[in-house]
Amino acid sequence: MADISNTFVGIKSPNPFWLASAPPTDKAYNVERAFEAGWGGVVWKTLGEEGPPIVNVNGPRYGAIWGADRRLLGLNNIELITDRDLYLNLREIKEVKAKWPDRAMIVSLMVPCEEQAWKGILPLVEETGADGIELNFGCPHGMSERGMGSAVGQVPEYIEMVTRWCKQTTRMPVIVKLTPNISDIRYPARAAKAGGADAVSLINTVSSIVSVNLDDFSPEPSIDGKGSHGGYCGPAVKPIALNMVAEISRDEETAGLPISGIGGITTWRDAAEFLALGAGNVQVCTAAMTYGFKIVEEMTAGLEAWMDSKGHKTLDDVIGRATPNVTDWQYLNLNFITKAKINQDTCIKCGRCHIACEDTSHQAITSMVDGARHFEVIDEECVGCNLCVNVCPVENCITMEQLPAGAVDTRTGKKVDKKYANWTEHPNNPSVVAAE
Ligand SMILES: Cc1cc2nc3c(=O)[nH]c(=O)nc-3n(C[C@H](O)[C@H](O)[C@H](O)COP(=O)(O)O)c2cc1C
Ligand code: SF4
Ligand code: SF4
Repeated sequence: MADISNTFVGIKSPNPFWLASAPPTDKAYNVERAFEAGWGGVVWKTLGEEGPPIVNVNGPRYGAIWGADRRLLGLNNIELITDRDLYLNLREIKEVKAKWPDRAMIVSLMVPCEEQAWKGILPLVEETGADGIELNFGCPHGMSERGMGSAVGQVPEYIEMVTRWCKQTTRMPVIVKLTPNISDIRYPARAAKAGGADAVSLINTVSSIVSVNLDDFSPEPSIDGKGSHGGYCGPAVKPIALNMVAEISRDEETAGLPISGIGGITTWRDAAEFLALGAGNVQVCTAAMTYGFKIVEEMTAGLEAWMDSKGHKTLDDVIGRATPNVTDWQYLNLNFITKAKINQDTCIKCGRCHIACEDTSHQAITSMVDGARHFEVIDEECVGCNLCVNVCPVENCITMEQLPAGAVDTRTGKKVDKKYANWTEHPNNPSVVAAE
């Protein structure tokens, strides 16, 4: 059986699945049941500074996007950091860590962007015996308007400064949690590294308005007829998160900086994809909020089974394996030529592929042949774009077939060249023409 035990910035956990800082990690009652269910670690719900506890709204704090089967695809929230007393949280963290020494206990923190505020809270956290801290530079709502969360995460200089304060003060590993609400994720990651961060974690939630009530015209979730933007997470944000993880993983300036991958992870497969793109472990929030703590059983069993089937013995056999295959568009092989092929035995003749290709692609799929409904690809027109595959309701009914070297592409009339050739050397590229 594959070994999925994990060491992330020196912190050991029996598997790479941590619960992200959020309601599932808000109190000892939750975290203990999460550990019983099998989670490898938790990032405790973000603690703020000492003083009167944070105030949340008393009405709806969530909005959602669903698929046609009512499966939750995206979750939006306007919740703030913990609204429980700082010392109550610290006491519970200490008790839970003492009871569960083999699980990772990370404490998420967000205090005002002042040296004393950061340096003051760290000894209190250290005293709990926690394994590490996560700096919450990510929350895009509520706290950011007070100069915290993503207000810090959007300014690389602030990230570097606060990270440095923390590294100067604590022996604990410092994980910097990044906001996706920024134009280029490499800059905040580089700043975290420059400040001495042991790792980055990403993504926090995406700024969003999830829907508008068309009876009273209030953005949802609606509080007495008004709404404010929230943070979006769940399966819908996974592609955004994967890209950002890949960007950091392949950036020469941050190469080797450990990454904790977060964003829409719902299955073992999602997790494996994050690991393959360079994440050293993963964090989960929405999936636990939707399906409960026991979802980790499927995640661990699924990951082990997949690794066994592929002969991967440890997570190191998987982590970062896809990173070298992420490249810029200009380096993609223009001599890789494919055509769609429809399996007539499984086709249910719904016609969706025809409509999609006819109206928005390349008019390359028939609809009527000899007076009968018949859907077949016209190779002379097919550019291999893959749209039909994605709209077909029958899995694997349409496949993309690569033309072998030497075959003639009937669309262009040209023989397929076996040589790799990309845009940088293409005759239509103005910079190639200029160089000649
Ligand atoms: C209700 C809610 C509250 C959250 N609170 C925090 C928080 O206090 N601190 C934090 O760093 N992230 C917080 N997050 C963000 C999550 O930790 C996580 O980064 C995000 O939800 C993406 O992961 P997911 O797609 O698995 O949910 C919160 C998310 C939700 C849904
Ligand atoms: S791959 Fe694109 S062009 Fe070819 S048949 Fe499908 S939709 Fe049409
Ligand atoms: S979308 Fe799929 S099932 Fe429907 S006609 Fe096209 S190939 Fe057949």
